[in-house]
Amino acid sequence: MANVFSKKPVVLTRGKGALVWDINGKEYLDCSTSYGVALLGHCHPKVVAAVQAQAEQLITCHSCYYNDKRAEFVAKLVKITPKGLDKVFLSNSGAESVECAIKLARKFTGKPEIIALMGAFHGKTMGALSATWDKKYREPFLPLVPEFKHVAPDNADKIREVITEKTAAVLMEPIRGEGGVRVPPDGYLQAVRQICNEKDILLIFDEVQTSFGRTGKLFGCQNWDVIPDIMCLAKPFAGGLPIGITVAKENIMSSLKVGEHSTTFSGSPLVCAAGSAALDALIEENLTAHASEMGKYFKAQLEGLMVKHKIIKEVRGLGLMLGMELRFDVYKIILKAASKGVLVLDAGRNVVRVLPPLVIDKQQIDRAVSVLDEVLGEEENERASSTISN
Ligand SMILES: Cc1ncc(COP(=O)(O)O)c(C=O)c1O
Repeated sequence: MANVFSKKPVVLTRGKGALVWDINGKEYLDCSTSYGVALLGHCHPKVVAAVQAQAEQLITCHSCYYNDKRAEFVAKLVKITPKGLDKVFLSNSGAESVECAIKLARKFTGKPEIIALMGAFHGKTMGALSATWDKKYREPFLPLVPEFKHVAPDNADKIREVITEKTAAVLMEPIRGEGGVRVPPDGYLQAVRQICNEKDILLIFDEVQTSFGRTGKLFGCQNWDVIPDIMCLAKPFAGGLPIGITVAKENIMSSLKVGEHSTTFSGSPLVCAAGSAALDALIEENLTAHASEMGKYFKAQLEGLMVKHKIIKEVRGLGLMLGMELRFDVYKIILKAASKGVLVLDAGRNVVRVLPPLVIDKQQIDRAVSVLDEVLGEEENERASSTISN
């Protein structure tokens, strides 16, 4: 395989709910959810049953044909999307959902320019990468797609200042995930919406990481009651199978004509059957409300660690999308936590990102916090003794 993933020394072979097991049978609490995919926990029984049943019926069916499972999934999806967002394009990944949104914005407005935020992450295909901020992802591949601009986040005036007659859209994550789990100040998303209305440009929310109940609302933007014109979804929407979804207002989506955008696997029956079951589980098990409650509990416990460990600079996040900023590089902390049976992620250089499944319970949260406590304590001791010996 290409050597492009920052590998952890763990071979995972099995998962159930919030837990996964490695090849030697060692158990881990999964607060990474495979980068925000396994939000229902691993191998949710409804998803497993739906995949098993559908695998015996029809696995693949190009979107040039109609299909019952695709129709069912899309109908369920648009029942819960914010008002007006009811036309759907299905693909296979987050980056693809962003690619579609970029093409859609250019096609609908007839203008080329996209404004994105410093610190943003939108994926690594060439269009999505052009909106992604971090130079370590961008620089090896220059030149990227032209007409992308980045502005400082959390200040709507910065967006207003750079809009020109060539601007098609503003593209942003409601909460920046990879950029360090950064929740915007109240009023910011509303102000950006207002500017887009005034200037007659589109607002695109990349909700690839912030949707499906993750932040305590079905969609992150609902925390601020702001509805975009286009929304990008992916990761958890097919219960663990690959999916990308671009949702747009009808007049915007209908600007794309036959053949102007497509992908072979768009809306495969297997993925859509899994997606339908995943949406059922999310709604029937009331997991968004559970995520909100568990998120408050988890955040409070992490804030408790901050009082104890001076190496924690800040704890932030919303719902079960949490970040703990340390005063140094977190990679060692993540490896140590894994060795003690808790999987967490990084977000940039110095933020430990905690993305547990929505089904996590208080006992499991206590277990994660106790391991982080231990690991942070060990790190502090090591740092103290190396300062003394220096
Ligand atoms: C906000 C956001 N957008 C887009 C992507 C890209 O998704 P994918 O890796 O499925 O292409 C990610 C992935 O982490 C993401 O967090």
